[in-house]
Amino acid sequence: MIVKKDTLTSEVFLELFSSVGWEPPCIDQVRTAFEHTLATFTAYDDGLPVGMVRLLGDGGMSFYIKDFAVIPGHQNKGVGTLLMNAVESFILNSIQPGWAVSLELISTKEAVTFYRGKGFEERPCKWDGPGMFKMIRR
Ligand SMILES: CC(C)(COP(=O)(O)OP(=O)(O)OC[C@H]1O[C@@H](n2cnc3c(N)ncnc32)[C@H](O)[C@@H]1OP(=O)(O)O)[C@@H](O)C(=O)NCCC(=O)NCCS
Repeated sequence: MIVKKDTLTSEVFLELFSSVGWEPPCIDQVRTAFEHTLATFTAYDDGLPVGMVRLLGDGGMSFYIKDFAVIPGHQNKGVGTLLMNAVESFILNSIQPGWAVSLELISTKEAVTFYRGKGFEERPCKWDGPGMFKMIRR
C-alpha cells in the first residue's frame, strides 16, 4: 500500500466517491474544485486507487478534510489511517514551529469512531456549539 500526493484525477475521484454510495457531482464541478484544493492524497494497492482524501485550507490557520473515502473492499485494513497520517504530516511540514492550526471535518455517522480514534473532538460539546452546514444551489 502506498499513499501519493496530488495524483488524484477527477475521473478516479468520481469512481472512489461513488464506490461508497455518495451521489457524485458533475465532472466540471470536480475539476473546478481541484483547482482550489490544497492537496489530495490517494492510496494505491498494487497500483490501483483504493482510497482518497482531499485537503482544503488557507495554509496558516485552518485546514478542512473533504471526500475521505476508502472503497468498501479495502475498509478496516488501515488504508484510512495511512491517508490521515499523510494529511497530518503534510500539515505539520507546511506550518511554522509554534503555530497551532485547526483541522476540521463533518463526519458521516459511520466514521465517527474512526475520527475519534484519530484525536478529533465532537461538536457540540460543553463549551462549543455544533458545526453548521448549508448547501447553496443554482
Ligand atoms: C471512514 C473511512 C474513510 C475509514 O477508512 P478505513 O480504511 O476503513 O480506516 P482504517 O482501516 O484505517 O480504520 C478503520 C478501523 O479499522 C481498524 N483497523 C485499522 N487497521 C486494521 C487492520 N490492519 N486490520 C483490521 N482492522 C484494522 C481501525 O482500528 C479502525 O477502527 P475504528 O474505526 O474503530 O477506529 C472508510 O471506512 C470509508 O470510506 N467509509 C465510507 C465513507 C465515509 O463514511 N467516509 C467518511 C467521510 S467523513
